[in-house]
Amino acid sequence: MVSALKDKNILLGITGSIAAYKAAEIIRLLRKRGAQVYPIMTRAATYFVHPITFQTLASRRVVLELFRQEDKIKHISLAELADALLIAPASANIIAKLANGIADDILSTVALATKAPVLIAPAMNHQMYVNPILQQNIDKLKRVGVKFIGPEKGQLASGKVGIGRMSEPSRIVECLESLIQCRDEFKGKCFLVTAGPTRERIDEVRFISNYSSGKMGYALAEEGICRGARIILVSGPTSLVPPAEAEFYRVESAEEMRKKVMEEFARVDGVLMAAAVSDFRPERKREGKIKKSVGERFTLELRQNPDILSELGKRKEGKILVGFCAETENLEEEAKRKLREKNLDLIVANDITLEGAGFGVDTNIVVLIDRYGNLTHLSKRSKREVARAVWDKIKEITKNLYR
Ligand code: C5P
Repeated sequence: MVSALKDKNILLGITGSIAAYKAAEIIRLLRKRGAQVYPIMTRAATYFVHPITFQTLASRRVVLELFRQEDKIKHISLAELADALLIAPASANIIAKLANGIADDILSTVALATKAPVLIAPAMNHQMYVNPILQQNIDKLKRVGVKFIGPEKGQLASGKVGIGRMSEPSRIVECLESLIQCRDEFKGKCFLVTAGPTRERIDEVRFISNYSSGKMGYALAEEGICRGARIILVSGPTSLVPPAEAEFYRVESAEEMRKKVMEEFARVDGVLMAAAVSDFRPERKREGKIKKSVGERFTLELRQNPDILSELGKRKEGKILVGFCAETENLEEEAKRKLREKNLDLIVANDITLEGAGFGVDTNIVVLIDRYGNLTHLSKRSKREVARAVWDKIKEITKNLYR
């Protein structure tokens, strides 16, 4: 698949933060996707990483100075050639400068002069990040269309845990790719995404679950955010880090997931049910732990869980409903039946017997079927790329709905 970043000119602003070393990986990922990278470093950034590192990776001289005799018009020409400006890591200082129109070095001057989309990945100490002045600066920039990714919660350079850690390079590059492709496509819209498995309690120490990793649902949430949607992510237990920008709810059982989804349904424009909801749960609620001494044979009675998506399909209320189905045989017939019976707009079907599809892996092979019977077969690709195709389809559906 050709990346939206291919042959694009990406200005990469690197500012003074310990996360500056991660910019090396960003350059590598951008170049792998075919982008031309123009690194611009602030003076503070050069204390963390020597420009030669970025120069080597970008195969281009790093821009460091505003006033060099031979580079007189550089800030304007850079600003004009840019398809996007990414600032990663972005310090509190550069955010403050951008929010106030200050142009006192090459990076802030280019930022002020460019018409290209700007994506900022902040990285700083927790206290600096939560400082109300910084938050006001971020809000101000968001209002004029500047995009932010992260920061995330995690271990900071100080050794403390808090919010301020720069998002991972792969996440930043994915977001930039989506931004270039489809900026603000879902601005003002809110979607609910479910992800992961559910856990159905047997006793105090055991549960029934499935192999879902949550990767497909989290990729859908990430992609939705990058396209400007507000995302409510309702997730069963997974080991994944939810995107910082999502409104995140963790649930355990199908019943808990149902409750949360129903609560939020009224305020969303659509629901993407990527969760692998357990169809059954143990009938009895048991205290303590079932003992081995119950006998050689032990029967656990199960009761069917409510089908959340079917319930949403009955309500519908003009919202977009996307379902997922994992099958081992008769994929298309089964998917079409579910689409019809659950009153969906779109179903994403995958044959989990294929290598590189389904639970646990990073790739998927799916067919998208909409309510008009249009089929889109997608060969093996990353779950993020599948997520892109799903959102593209949702866009198409919304256009038809609101026409
Ligand atoms: O019928 P099946 O379980 O194969 O349908 C899968 C779709 O229905 C998925 O989108 C899944 O999230 C949703 N589902 C649900 N509630 C259930 C079971 C599945 O919403 N109890």
